[in-house]
Amino acid sequence: MATTDSPYGPPSALPPAGKPVRVHHLAAAKARGERLTMLTAYDAVTASILDAAGTDMLLIGDSIGNVMLGHGSTLPVSLDEMVVATRAVASATTRALVVADLPFGAYESGPAQALASSVRLVKAGANAIKLEGGAPRVTTVRALSEAGIPVVGHLGFTPQSVNMLGGFRVQGRSEEAAAGLLADATALAEAGVIALVLEMVPQDLAASVTQALAVPTIGIGAGAGCDAQVLVWTDMAGMTEWKPRFARQFGQVGVALRQAAEDFNAAVRDGSFPSAEESFAS
Ligand code: KIV
Repeated sequence: MATTDSPYGPPSALPPAGKPVRVHHLAAAKARGERLTMLTAYDAVTASILDAAGTDMLLIGDSIGNVMLGHGSTLPVSLDEMVVATRAVASATTRALVVADLPFGAYESGPAQALASSVRLVKAGANAIKLEGGAPRVTTVRALSEAGIPVVGHLGFTPQSVNMLGGFRVQGRSEEAAAGLLADATALAEAGVIALVLEMVPQDLAASVTQALAVPTIGIGAGAGCDAQVLVWTDMAGMTEWKPRFARQFGQVGVALRQAAEDFNAAVRDGSFPSAEESFAS
């Protein structure tokens, strides 16, 4: 794998600014011990900002259900909604690898249903799709990979199975569950996943899975031993006061947005907006 001379640091397996991150860059970055970044995005304006910041992967997560559409879970999200969001994010992204979630109900019947759904997401601009689950998804992962559609896996806490898992709980704590998760990860890697999200998994188990795989693991609530980290962008930017325990707010954008809206409201009400410069002459 050729490396890139970067003005910002040592040679990298990732492309320089302005060139797109592709699937083959992910395993190459892992092989060189380079950490990767992923953030969710659901619209064009936000995607262009996160892409310009140098984020390696943008995920149109089905967390759009909780974060943007006001649902209490990801379960109501439709494939049509994911297609609209994927088109918006992909249209505004020049560097990041664009990954789109297959929503609940769009792939569980098997490879044929998964292929039809994934084709819609790829036509909307996704470079790869993500699906949840372990051994039962192996034939689907193989079929999509053979059809030329890169697949990202998702193990640990899988939100689409929240009813089965009995709520938002850390997964893989018992010896048996940890062995099962490692077996699922290995099976998905053999089937061809290009990366694997590990959500709410004990950090030592996530580190073991990371060591066992040639493809990168992408942790969320899975500790620093993963090859990449992903956060929901609104958690990362501090859009709300609440955040999950495993997330960090790298800004207070919600507070800044509210302040901007309060300033706008006040300026309209006191007549200082719009000024003469912000108006057209006849
Ligand atoms: O939908 C989503 O945002 C996700 C991430 C939490 C990985 O699947």
